[in-house]
Amino acid sequence: MTMQELFGIRLPIIQAPMAGSQGSELAIAVSNAGALGSLPCAMLSPDGMRAELQAIRGATDQPFNVNFFCHTPPTADAKREAAWRELLAPYFREYGIDRPEGSGGGSRAPFSAAAADVLERFKPNVVSFHFGLPSADLMARVKKWGSKVLASATTVEEAVWLEQRGVDAVIAQGAEAGGHRGIFLSQDLSTQVGTFALLPQVVKALSVPVIAAGGIADASGVAAAMSLGAAGVQLGTAYLLCPEAKTSAVHRAALKSNRASHTALTNLFSGRPARGIMNRFMAELGPINGAAPAFPLAADAVAPLRKKAESTGSGDFSPLWAGQNVSGCKEIPAAELTRALIR
Ligand SMILES: Cc1cc2nc3c(=O)[nH]c(=O)nc-3n(C[C@H](O)[C@H](O)[C@H](O)COP(=O)(O)O)c2cc1C
Repeated sequence: MTMQELFGIRLPIIQAPMAGSQGSELAIAVSNAGALGSLPCAMLSPDGMRAELQAIRGATDQPFNVNFFCHTPPTADAKREAAWRELLAPYFREYGIDRPEGSGGGSRAPFSAAAADVLERFKPNVVSFHFGLPSADLMARVKKWGSKVLASATTVEEAVWLEQRGVDAVIAQGAEAGGHRGIFLSQDLSTQVGTFALLPQVVKALSVPVIAAGGIADASGVAAAMSLGAAGVQLGTAYLLCPEAKTSAVHRAALKSNRASHTALTNLFSGRPARGIMNRFMAELGPINGAAPAFPLAADAVAPLRKKAESTGSGDFSPLWAGQNVSGCKEIPAAELTRALIR
């Protein structure tokens, strides 16, 4: 089955959900252009989610995707968090911030019964998950009201695990991808492989459609993924400069600069590995630092630094999520960018 048949769309393209960088506006533009727009919900309250879903329903009758994280919330570890704040203390002194207290900037909640209650009223065509799947009963609820379920896999093993639990399609997320790695069966980053190594192996192992993600930036990248057996593609980074995205000013500036050619996987901003443009914070603490608290707790401590630095136009302490290929980033309307991806 093609991805277009599965989701009821015209183009085999998904605009990747990007929590913190976009909301309904980008999703609406992409869905109205004939591809699948996505609404990321990881950083939305149930009320925020309802408002965004109402905005989408009011602006398009086309299918769209609603995306959630599925991590197990960590138990707070006061000692570890204190040690982390201690490590950041010199930066707080430098910026003249007295209270290295978190400001709740960047809290992320997993899919829950409360989120399902909101979602059920909208019954979107597609629901996608990152970091595995929700509990079997929540998964059954989503499937029962008719949404197609998608989830990210970063290894063949994860892809098989997802198929066995009933997903309708799998996103093969190569290591080039911007933002958080969907990795969930292991924490070992040496298991992470590139899109063109992962994709054909996942296609071979599964019978459900496979969607390629990571490093795809233009029509020839889309065609190459399709020739390796992808039923469709998911692009995130390419949409970050579109006027409909909510990408911050420092993030936009970094994406447009030469610095964007140097990205790394880092756990400093959330506690989980995610790909972003190298900045001062990553360079000085090492992009992966064992002292960072568990996901999503690490985000809290850095929030005041990020805010202060951004107020001076600096992205030194901001997550500048981007994939390894920013050549597709264009300051053009998302509909135009979407149409240009199909030759
Ligand atoms: C700014 C940004 C935020 C992201 N946030 C999410 C998210 O909230 N949920 C999710 O499933 N994937 C998220 N991702 C990962 C994308 O789903 C996708 O795997 C990735 O964008 C594909 O690689 P590319 O960026 O090279 O196109 C994010 C990616 C970026 C660049």
